[in-house]
Amino acid sequence: MTTASAGRFEGRVALVTGGAHGIGAATVRRLHAEGATVVVADLDVDAAQRAVDALPDGRTGTAASAVACDITDTASVERAVSTTLDRHDRLDVLVGVAGGTGVHPGLLDGMDDTTWAAGVDLNLAGPARCVRAAAPHLPRGGAIVLVGSVNGLQAFGDEDYSAAKAGLVSLAQNLAVRLGGRGVRINVVAPGTVRTRSWDQRTDPDRLASLYPLGRIGEPDDVAAAIAFLASDDAAWITGVTLPVDGGVLAGPVARFESLGGGGER
Ligand SMILES: NC(=O)c1ccc[n+]([C@@H]2O[C@H](COP(=O)([O-])OP(=O)(O)OC[C@H]3O[C@@H](n4cnc5c(N)ncnc54)[C@H](O)[C@@H]3O)[C@@H](O)[C@H]2O)c1
Repeated sequence: MTTASAGRFEGRVALVTGGAHGIGAATVRRLHAEGATVVVADLDVDAAQRAVDALPDGRTGTAASAVACDITDTASVERAVSTTLDRHDRLDVLVGVAGGTGVHPGLLDGMDDTTWAAGVDLNLAGPARCVRAAAPHLPRGGAIVLVGSVNGLQAFGDEDYSAAKAGLVSLAQNLAVRLGGRGVRINVVAPGTVRTRSWDQRTDPDRLASLYPLGRIGEPDDVAAAIAFLASDDAAWITGVTLPVDGGVLAGPVARFESLGGGGER
């Protein structure tokens, strides 16, 4: 379901990394539904093209297209930005969604340096590369939204991934100060558990629903709505913040509250 505020992105061009699947694909649908011209940048360019082809009729073609992009490769990121500019002559919004983690040992359980470096490269250096390439082209009123995680704000395991996501909080604060004078904003969303294929190798994400005060895990559209808000002029005076989109889990996991004798209305 996409409940769009029609027209918030009319006339604007958005580049969405990781837009082929999951939260990124929902973001592409949302921005497109609200009038944006969207370039879907992904390692999996065939899936990016399928995400474009799946958009409602009438707004595809020049209004959406795919580009190959590996956010761990500076030249590839720069090519995705220059391709966007070549196609559309402007870039108003960067959404850095690409990231994630695989199944591997924890830091104290045998994680090697290569695994650590790869996690930090994908989840912190990657978004930083995207910002470095895109920011010089963003006009006054331009916006950057990066996808962090609740893992960057509280302990949930996956140390390499979580430390990298925590780094995005600082990156956004520092760059908000650098970019504010040019009228460009940068913010982070920090999702809790969201139903995407990223859970396929791990667990049934619905098993985690009981942690969430709102009684369910998130859907990609829940996160896309928050991304669209922060990317839009509705958030014109918001920069440098990290917004949890987490069904309340950072307010307090249900089990912790109940173990302390608290009650809830459910
Ligand atoms: N699903 C969750 O529970 C959850 C929770 C918190 C944060 N997140 C974050 O949300 C973002 C999206 O995750 P998702 O769950 O939608 O996963 P997903 O696997 O469905 O989508 C990730 C997308 O990123 C692309 N990608 C991966 N590596 C890339 C690279 N090097 N360069 C370019 N594209 C690349 C993939 O091809 C895919 O299209 C990630 O940053 C993830 O850390 C997810």
